[in-house]
Amino acid sequence: MGITKNDFVSQNHDTAEINTLLIHSDDVVNNRIVNDVAPPINVTTTFRYSSNPEDWIPWADQTPEEKEKLLNHDFVYSRLSHPNNVRLETNLNNIFDGYTTIYNSGLSAFNGIINYINPKQVFLPDCYHGIKSICKIWERNYGTKVYNDIDEIFNHLQEGDLVHIENPINPFGTVIDIKKYIDYAHEKKAYVVWDATFAPSPIIKNHWDFDPDFILHSLTKYYAGHSDLLAGCVVTKSSEIDTFLKNDRIYLGTNIGNLESFLLLRSLRSYELRVEKQSSNAKKIVEWLADNKDKFNGNIIKVSHAITQRKELANKNQDVSFIDNLFNEDYTTPVFSVYLKDFNSCKTFIANLKYFQHATSLGGVESLVELRCLTDPNIDRNLIRISIGCESPKDLIKDIEQALKKI
Ligand SMILES: Cc1ncc(COP(=O)(O)O)c(C=O)c1O
Repeated sequence: MGITKNDFVSQNHDTAEINTLLIHSDDVVNNRIVNDVAPPINVTTTFRYSSNPEDWIPWADQTPEEKEKLLNHDFVYSRLSHPNNVRLETNLNNIFDGYTTIYNSGLSAFNGIINYINPKQVFLPDCYHGIKSICKIWERNYGTKVYNDIDEIFNHLQEGDLVHIENPINPFGTVIDIKKYIDYAHEKKAYVVWDATFAPSPIIKNHWDFDPDFILHSLTKYYAGHSDLLAGCVVTKSSEIDTFLKNDRIYLGTNIGNLESFLLLRSLRSYELRVEKQSSNAKKIVEWLADNKDKFNGNIIKVSHAITQRKELANKNQDVSFIDNLFNEDYTTPVFSVYLKDFNSCKTFIANLKYFQHATSLGGVESLVELRCLTDPNIDRNLIRISIGCESPKDLIKDIEQALKKI
């Protein structure tokens, strides 16, 4: 299974399929001094300047090309750039088919975007609570008006505003009609950020078909995939914006660390295999839960995921094309939520699971559950978020079944 890239920046970029790109598209920056197959870990924070005094050009006198060479090839100080962040960006430019700036977390990535846009107004749908908290800081410090209802764009959106769309939505696993919001935002000359953390490639058909201005990923989740590093990225189609973000990143102090870069590169090599497995597992488990929901003494109130959302809409003869247009046929998002009857039932269910770890986050090879109100202040207390890993789906279903029976 593979995704063929579209033609953006293709003159510089490899046109192979995603699983080949993940493993080979940073070969072009293989270090000539060592011949390691696994990229070396560069732990240094600082780099010796050239030994030739002719090369010592004051920063203020350097041309953009000289700065570019210094940052991407010669290196100065690892807060500015280092070999492994450059290597990662080289790889991800191919995967995302755009210009990628990498950060030390998903929230740092959003922080980079909001500092670039400097909006007077921000519009948010249901989304990750950390993004809402950054917007609250902007409201507190700069008087930015924050709307916590994305449909308010149809009443209040103005040029230069920021519209943040998370699709699929954390923690529900459901989707919104992203194109409708993006088209309207562009009519008004506002910027759209698509947080696609819950549906990285190749789950989504092609993110650029929907024409967002920025794509954001918490790479901590699926791209890292082993619950052992924090990272984020912003992708744009504009090299000017990319340069701007990278310059700001120097002074916001949000570049990814050396060791995390190395771990993330390692993870990219197996990314597609993992996501394919997580996605097919999730399909089986959501379908099983939806089919068997009523067999547990009324303990399951609702299963929330794009698959159940689609069924509900189709049963009411409502439009489902915005869901079908989003996903590649064989993929779905591996995160969903289950609402149980009450808080105690949630505790009993979670306490009796054998394979699902009770922890926040998602996207790792191990399946997780989370009583979401433990970290999200605004959520229904009876909602359990489930992130499906790479275990056998049969074992995961058996585990869920036995824990539900204990309620
Ligand atoms: C949808 C979404 N966006 C952004 C983030 C923030 O990412 P990070 O934890 O890497 O800062 C998260 C974290 O859970 C998330 O779920």
